[in-house]
Amino acid sequence: MDQAQHLRNIFKNPMPRSASRIIAVTSGKGGVGKSNVSVNLAVQLKKMGKRVLIFDADFGLANVEVMFGAIPKYNLKDVIWGGMAIRDIISYGQGDIPFISGGSGILGLSNISRDQITLLLQRMAELDELADIIIIDTGAGISDAVMEFVSASSEVILVTTPEPSSLTDSYSLLKVMCARPGYDRNSTAIKVVANKALTREDGKNVYSRLRTVTDRFLNVNMELLGVVLSDPALEKAVMQQVPVSLSSPNARSSRDFEELAVALTGDHAHGRHNSSGMAGMFARLLNRFGQISG
Ligand SMILES: Nc1ncnc2c1ncn2[C@@H]1O[C@H](COP(=O)(O)OP(=O)(O)OP(=O)(O)O)[C@@H](O)[C@H]1O
Ligand SMILES: [Mg+2]
Repeated sequence: MDQAQHLRNIFKNPMPRSASRIIAVTSGKGGVGKSNVSVNLAVQLKKMGKRVLIFDADFGLANVEVMFGAIPKYNLKDVIWGGMAIRDIISYGQGDIPFISGGSGILGLSNISRDQITLLLQRMAELDELADIIIIDTGAGISDAVMEFVSASSEVILVTTPEPSSLTDSYSLLKVMCARPGYDRNSTAIKVVANKALTREDGKNVYSRLRTVTDRFLNVNMELLGVVLSDPALEKAVMQQVPVSLSSPNARSSRDFEELAVALTGDHAHGRHNSSGMAGMFARLLNRFGQISG
């Protein structure tokens, strides 16, 4: 029995009662604001009464914990290899936002046994019971690990800035995504956040510049989720390791993040894309990792 068959067999079992909405936050270029978007969206969604959780899949720099100034004791590897329960590896950041650090567990995903896969998917199904929305901070660029997360997610927030290099790197990421085997326009909704914009107009221009090239050369389902203005209050908040939405709720970027959260929750089309939650997402992910490692 190959790994794909094994995953199908696991899914013959009843799925969890509820499935979280999974949103992967990514970017072509580093340093454009993914971790700030992830953390501030989480704060705003929680304010709106949603049960939200952040999954930090950027194993390199452990971003979410830096934003929160909280150092998690455990990460995903303690579930895969240490037999820990998923609830026990959840840390809590400022504003009581739950987050899980993928840590080195992410790199290990290509190398796990069938029993570990079964266990991991059961654990992920437990997360689906705990959260309405799971935000995944993926790390930047077109590395395999990032692209796997992007490809396995039905909703992707693509963060870009007015810098020309950010735009070209966003385009490169979309191009690689479209060229991947199994890519299907209808099962991946790309939502662009134009961050560090000087004015709203500037942000909208960023989106239309990207749109001009994707319309011409790529088959993507993409829309503008919103604009986040460049804001000194956000920079200050980063230094203090508190999300700006908590430290300065009235700052212009905090209001922009609130608008993003409103736009996301008002977007009913997502249900069409996503019904299998975190367990389904990890099943797709493991299937792909399995294919890569043969
Ligand atoms: N709206 C904004 N206004 C002003 N500065 C911003 C804004 N968004 C991000 N920044 C600045 O950019 C820096 C990088 O942001 P962030 O860490 O969220 O990016 P990232 O994409 O997660 O980076 P990495 O690729 O390293 O994970 C922040 O430290 C902050 O100084
Ligand atoms: Mg980051």
